[in-house]
Amino acid sequence: MQEIIKAVQDIAIKISEVLKYGDLGYAASSNATGDTQLKLDILSDEIIENRLKELSSIKAIISEEKDAPLSVNDGGEYIIAYDPLDGSSLVDVNFAVGSIFGVYKGSLEARNLVAALYSVYGPRVELVVCDDSVKLFRLNRDNEFKFIKNLELNQKGKINATGGTQKGWSDSHRAMIKSLFDDGYRLRYSGAMVSDLHQVLLKGGGLFSYPATTDAPNGKLRVAFEVLPFAYIYEKAGGATTNGVNDSLLDIKIEQTHQTTPCYFGSKFEIDRVKNG
Ligand code: AHG
Ligand code: MN
Ligand code: MN
Repeated sequence: MQEIIKAVQDIAIKISEVLKYGDLGYAASSNATGDTQLKLDILSDEIIENRLKELSSIKAIISEEKDAPLSVNDGGEYIIAYDPLDGSSLVDVNFAVGSIFGVYKGSLEARNLVAALYSVYGPRVELVVCDDSVKLFRLNRDNEFKFIKNLELNQKGKINATGGTQKGWSDSHRAMIKSLFDDGYRLRYSGAMVSDLHQVLLKGGGLFSYPATTDAPNGKLRVAFEVLPFAYIYEKAGGATTNGVNDSLLDIKIEQTHQTTPCYFGSKFEIDRVKNG
């Protein structure tokens, strides 16, 4: 596991450098979800693939930017599913973006997650590493990630971050979101789940949601490399998750590598509110 953490640190440094000066244009291709790919999406994917391929412990990698899983080492024990650049459409407006990694042992099942990591490329470069606890690291002048603190969610927060086309929301989602605002919650939503979930986590709690909508009945966010790694982190930080109905996003069965789900992450109080109205 230590070699995987070291590799993700190296990757985060490289991607943060590419983001500073790289070409902001589109590539002539689209990914499995149908998103038009940016040159930065592809470059970030290549940086990650090349570094992870060096690790004998890795059996296969699954990327948002690749149609199918890629076998790496027959003798490896981990599958890494990753979003190379989350929020990439916001690089042109200079918002914080990130990379997300889920480490699965043996096979690609939610309950086989043994670690999850994400990096944030903002004014500072940060890395959150979660195996048993959730640890925040920040890059220093010498290009070293220094441990800052353990992260824990409060029982209840103040932030309400919700995505999806509002005219396509269900009446129940609309009512739940309104009731939180009526109780004094504040809207914080950038459109990069890494940054939005990082804010909720660092500010102690609240709710991040990306619901089912009429135009995206299964939501937008992808299970293997976006939703489950963050579900793992939020639950280890003392929070809770749901798809709106189930007791945990970690109960989801992965049937396709690019499948999506409605998702809610937050402190226990807000997730209870989502489930029980
Ligand atoms: P990606 O850049 O990897 O395609 O992910 C974008 C995702 C996620 O980061 C964010 O929460 C969501 O798309 C935003 O979608 P909306 O613009 O529909 O809110
Ligand atoms: Mn993403
Ligand atoms: Mn992405």
